Amino acid sequence: MSKITNICCIGAGYVGGPTMAVIAAKCPHIKVTIVDLNVARIAAWNDENLDNLPVYEPGLDKIVGEARGRNLFFTTEVEKAIDEAQMIFISVNTPTKTYGLGKGKAADLKYIELCARQIAAVAKDDKIVVEKSTLPVRTAEAVRSILDNTGNGVKFQILSNPEFLAEGTAMEDLLAPDRVLIGGDTDPEGVAAIDALVEVYANWIPKERILTTNVWSSELSKLTANAFLAQRVSSINAMSELCEKTGADVSEVARAIGMDSRIGPKFLKASVGFGGSCFQKDILNLVYIAKSYGLDEVADYWEQVIIMNDHQKRRFASNMVKTLYNTVSGKKLAFLGWAFKKDTNDTRESAAIYVADDLLYEQAGIAVYDPKVEEEQILADLNYLGTRSKEENAKGVTTFSDPYDACKDAHAIAVLTEWDEFKGYDWQRIYDNMKKPAFVFDGRNVLDGEYLKSIGFVFQTIGK
Ligand code: UDX
Ligand code: ADP
Repeated sequence: MSKITNICCIGAGYVGGPTMAVIAAKCPHIKVTIVDLNVARIAAWNDENLDNLPVYEPGLDKIVGEARGRNLFFTTEVEKAIDEAQMIFISVNTPTKTYGLGKGKAADLKYIELCARQIAAVAKDDKIVVEKSTLPVRTAEAVRSILDNTGNGVKFQILSNPEFLAEGTAMEDLLAPDRVLIGGDTDPEGVAAIDALVEVYANWIPKERILTTNVWSSELSKLTANAFLAQRVSSINAMSELCEKTGADVSEVARAIGMDSRIGPKFLKASVGFGGSCFQKDILNLVYIAKSYGLDEVADYWEQVIIMNDHQKRRFASNMVKTLYNTVSGKKLAFLGWAFKKDTNDTRESAAIYVADDLLYEQAGIAVYDPKVEEEQILADLNYLGTRSKEENAKGVTTFSDPYDACKDAHAIAVLTEWDEFKGYDWQRIYDNMKKPAFVFDGRNVLDGEYLKSIGFVFQTIGK
């Protein structure tokens, strides 16, 4: 394979968009085209006003602004882009199946299969196909089978190149990753394909950080990394409940254990529960795969990480109800934050959705403020759960574009995302305009509890 000069990426989402923007910025000699079936999404990526990009990620607007129209293009012309590219990244969504066999656990690969069929139908010369989306182990085999059996004699090489970027820090993660992982076949054609992708990344990443493995190791490493990270959060969240009973302080415990270099300080923040598009999905996948090989103990072991996370979300909501004199019916409860973490507009699996669902069940009125999430998304998240009708969700939840309005006349505030701006609010003003006693439930351990108590708030946080 000659040097790569033309890349296409199928899927202009949270992974494809930022990743390709960085490749384009760092490799001006490569033409990078991102395609998506979603017309509105492509139009937003092409919007003159960089504030309107469909993905909010600090620093992304600047990089898109520099590369767009030079060697970075967004289009809905999927076939043309596939035809012209030497290397095609598949970066489409792989949600958990909501129907049929493996419902609620296995990944739904219909979008991946569609991509593979589309590539097979269009390709006229040899191509390298790169799996970027998080996928269950052995997906490459399915993609290969579709490509080899439906293509017209064209040779495909399939690589696994899992994404390790975390939303909110995607630019830093992509510009200076801890490592890049590339899995491929071990025969000479496979090695040549791996080398071609290594050369792309080597434009800005030191070679010793680029690991190459076989395809299955690469696919499984992605699931394993996310399972280990999620497990740390569930482990510290499990301790948070014990801290609340015993008088220990979970932040002090986390600090004490994190200084042990064998444990390390990261991913030890107790919270209302982890969210995001990866952790739950990947663990459910791992559980499904383990079960399908008859490894029940392995499956149960990892499933416990999810069970703990569900418990943490539920207990946050039930604690609010209990503290608010066992009834929130008709009360205004203000949510600060809806995104699954700060510095992103992504809400997939956000703890806020589940806390809101529980509180709506108790007939609370919920007032949401999030600096980057729109009302339409908030209602779509609740409607997706399907607990109650769209009309009931719309009646129970109101969205505000001003945090002070969201908190006005509220009985309580719940902090569900750790947005930095929350710390800088005029909390005296918020207090003055709330019902008394005024409660704050900090699900992210971000506010200064002592200060809030000195104003008059009743303050509760996780693990203290
Ligand atoms: C994760 C992985 O980190 C990334 O490598 C992978 O590619 C995709 O999945 P992401 O989901 O974007 O990234 O965010 P992450 O920073 O991992 O946070 C996941 C969830 O865990 C968030 O809801 C976050 O608030 C929560 N979390 C994280 C905690 O509750 N406590 C912590 O200490 C760390
Ligand atoms: P991720 O977080 O994995 O990037 P997203 O849902 O943000 O997930 O993005 C995936 C994108 O892939 C969506 O914009 C969706 O429209 C797009 N997509 C899914 N299937 C196809 C397809 N066959 N061809 C082109 N785009 C697709």
